[in-house]
Amino acid sequence: MEAMVDRLELYLRDGTPVVARPLSPDDRELVAEGYRRLSPEARYQRFWVRDGEIIGDAMLDRLLTDQPPKHAIWTVFDPELEDFKALGAASFWRSEKDPAEAEFSVTVMDDHQGRGVATLLLGILWVVAFRFGIERFVGYTTPENLHALRWMRGTGAAGEWDGYNAIFRWDLTDLELIPATSSGTDLAGRLAELADQLL
Ligand SMILES: CC(C)(COP(=O)(O)OP(=O)(O)OC[C@H]1O[C@@H](n2cnc3c(N)ncnc32)[C@H](O)[C@@H]1OP(=O)(O)O)[C@@H](O)C(=O)NCCC(=O)NCCS
Repeated sequence: MEAMVDRLELYLRDGTPVVARPLSPDDRELVAEGYRRLSPEARYQRFWVRDGEIIGDAMLDRLLTDQPPKHAIWTVFDPELEDFKALGAASFWRSEKDPAEAEFSVTVMDDHQGRGVATLLLGILWVVAFRFGIERFVGYTTPENLHALRWMRGTGAAGEWDGYNAIFRWDLTDLELIPATSSGTDLAGRLAELADQLL
């Protein structure tokens, strides 16, 4: 397999030029700062903790471990932003039991939600995972996280409820399952664009 591309220059749907790249163990300060800047609500929705603004070392180790093809984490940033440039990040962890499945998680900084950043990150990780032979992403969310529920369904994930969490599965092998919603259309366009660059 050829080496994976490790920097993509792309545009958000509002025309903003952005850069996407994998995060590495050198990005501890960046991730810690992003975690600190998240609203308590977004932090809880992604990390399921209400322990304040400081991310623990164990969480940083876990997020930034460099273990392809078991794990990948990418960020999208706007190089023109003066203060904090990262717009969001997403990762997957491959299941030990079922290597065709990986758990997908995403966080977009509060001020940049609704701009297509999560959909872009899903597209990138979809192509990266597919290249590693992963066939399904599973994502978990709390039932009150309506924005995430709508986004997951809008990008083609099938949802179920286990009495506690909502569990969504994207089938990475069947693009016909992506619906013609705004985020689904956005995702399909991203996959076409990214397959050329990443596959
Ligand atoms: C849920 C979350 C990841 C969504 O991120 P986002 O970057 O805002 O998502 P996107 O912009 O890609 O898509 C979301 C919205 O934009 C809309 N959208 C996407 N593409 C679009 C397009 N081309 N034109 C118009 N609207 C579009 C979607 O329909 C969706 O709208 P909705 O409000 O009706 O759901 C984000 O809110 C977040 O980080 N929340 C906190 C953490 C979390 O909950 N993570 C999920 C569990 S791991």
